[in-house]
Amino acid sequence: MLTDSLNRPLHDLRISVTDRCNFRCGYCMPKDVFGKGYPFLRPSSLLSYPQIETLVRVFTRLGVRKIRLTGGEPLLRKDLELLVEKIVSIEGIEDIALTTNASLLSADRARSLCSAGVNRLNISLDALTPEIYNQINQIPVPLTDILEGIDNALECNYQSVKINMVVQKGINESDILPMVEHFRGSGAILRFIEFMDVGNYNQWTMDKVFTSHEIAELIHSVYPIEPVDANYTGEVARRWQYVDGQGEIGIISSITQPFCESCSRARLSAIGEIFTCLFATSGFDLRNLLENNATEDEILTCLENIWRSRKDKYSMQRMSDTGTGPVRETGHKVEMSYIGG
Ligand SMILES: C[S@@+](CC[C@H](N)C(=O)[O-])C[C@H]1O[C@@H](n2cnc3c(N)ncnc32)[C@H](O)[C@@H]1O
Ligand code: SF4
Repeated sequence: MLTDSLNRPLHDLRISVTDRCNFRCGYCMPKDVFGKGYPFLRPSSLLSYPQIETLVRVFTRLGVRKIRLTGGEPLLRKDLELLVEKIVSIEGIEDIALTTNASLLSADRARSLCSAGVNRLNISLDALTPEIYNQINQIPVPLTDILEGIDNALECNYQSVKINMVVQKGINESDILPMVEHFRGSGAILRFIEFMDVGNYNQWTMDKVFTSHEIAELIHSVYPIEPVDANYTGEVARRWQYVDGQGEIGIISSITQPFCESCSRARLSAIGEIFTCLFATSGFDLRNLLENNATEDEILTCLENIWRSRKDKYSMQRMSDTGTGPVRETGHKVEMSYIGG
């Protein structure tokens, strides 16, 4: 089995199918930085579906079994279902998930993605109070559209529908309990994510992190919860279940309990660079190989070398730094929308 320098296998691949988004969430693509002038990638520079398919085929030979399609907003990419159908037919692929803000998740779209082969959907929703929701995503999309998108997803046969809430102290922690009340017993699994220092522009500081401990305590004080075993080794969300049997929640402690030690994820940017960490400052250009007619074996050898020499553990280093002093200076990090959240 292929492992990196810290003995971590390569199991998951996140693919950013576009860097574009119709939202401007302050923690990801802030409007004042990413307004009209933001230099999005040229559409012609995006990897084509056949190129993505070739790379996925090579990745499966190295151990990848799970694919997540993300972005940017993946539903902005035309005919995404065609890509899903291709990926699902690649030998070795066991799981295809999609992360979306659900603004374009009509009933038809939810059905067509499901029948194409997406088996798990993650939907981002940071608040149930319309003013807070729109303050975060910085566009006037009606919250009711997103709730409708979630209902559309729940009516299909997805193996799971998860709702991701990024919690920022002083911004939306007041909506944690309303979110719990809304989604308890609904069939959707609510997951809370600590605000992370991804990219270069979201003004992250440790004091804006509402910690997983605070989240769990707050929920437990009203709706008692108890821990549940992980579904598999390396699961990023810590699972909890409501004591009264109304389902489970997940809490992702990316900041306070980093999980670098079990990270088996690679990320493919919209233009075909491979990154081995969400906090990386540079990637390796696979598109160049594809365009120079490299064989799949040649690409495989290249990826093997990249993964073997991988030693990223940024979040664990950040953790030791924030305990004792300033956050580690990493240089210009790649933006999350390029490499997929
Ligand atoms: C980059 S988005 C891409 C997919 C899609 N546009 C969406 O929002 O679901 C993927 C996930 O990353 C999360 N995310 C983005 N920036 C983050 C940050 N600074 N801290 C924690 N999560 C973040 C989003 O909330 C979302 O759940
Ligand atoms: S988190 Fe998703 S919806 Fe929000 S700006 Fe980033 S890519 Fe767009």
